[in-house]
Amino acid sequence: MKDKTRDQYAVMGNPVSHSKSPFIHSEFARQTGQQLDYTAICVEPGHLSEAVSQFYHNHGKGLNITVPFKQDAWQLASQRSERAQRAGAVNTLVLLSETAIYGDTTDGIGLVTDLTQNHGIQIQPQKILILGAGGAVRGVLEPLLQGQLQQLVIANRTVAKATELADDFAELGAVSGCGFPDLNGEKFDLVINGTSASLAGELPPLPENLLTADACVYDMMYGAKPTVFMRWGMHQGAARCLDGLGMLVEQAAESFEIWRGVRPRTEEVIRALRASMK
Ligand code: ATR
Repeated sequence: MKDKTRDQYAVMGNPVSHSKSPFIHSEFARQTGQQLDYTAICVEPGHLSEAVSQFYHNHGKGLNITVPFKQDAWQLASQRSERAQRAGAVNTLVLLSETAIYGDTTDGIGLVTDLTQNHGIQIQPQKILILGAGGAVRGVLEPLLQGQLQQLVIANRTVAKATELADDFAELGAVSGCGFPDLNGEKFDLVINGTSASLAGELPPLPENLLTADACVYDMMYGAKPTVFMRWGMHQGAARCLDGLGMLVEQAAESFEIWRGVRPRTEEVIRALRASMK
């Protein structure tokens, strides 16, 4: 049974029963000797504020926020990190009091840590293409641009969303937006899929010969089997085709550190998750 006097953490979303966060954070707590419980809470749309308040009164210290509440959580936060301020969405809340709620976003740093530390990909010399212009992409742009990359192109089905997003982040580096047909004749070192197309088993309409010789493709989604986008990368001769499982664990590690002030090791948790998906 849950010890209600222990610090409580949870992920709130809808749906949330499939979430791997309880497993990840329980592993982090065990590994670092932190006394806490972490659960998954399904929240009805429009009821995030009440759910957070109730959680706070039950020893709730911090929350992860997932789909579809990341923007609602941004609104709820009374203080925000600089990166969260720009992203317009948060995935991590620290409950300082019932009304003082700090919001941060760790998705972008999770992606960059996975790319650079787990996969040894240097951001700096890269020409990077990111597919999609929704919340998932917005959340990762700032840390990517901070990597001093050569050029970042955002391509989206709805072109205006890509160009608007690029404009919002233009002061941080070389970023532009376009539609998929505009990619004809271009080449990239790294292509990141941030569309939700994978969820429906669909693939954005990408031109042939988009990849440089050593190119890598990275899907922010993950699954037991390679995603449609990863399979596209294999057919296009990508040197490496990666999924977003490492990003999931790295963003969790960043949240855990924000809450507890301790950095957990991620490698063994990624390995355990991968094994459990087989
Ligand atoms: P999220 O928060 O996951 O980013 P979102 O804000 O709804 O979700 O954004 C979904 C993204 O996936 C959008 O960029 C969307 O393209 P549009 O802006 O043109 O709608 C993209 N997307 C979804 N399904 C797609 C498909 N089948 N092909 C190409 N892009 C797709």
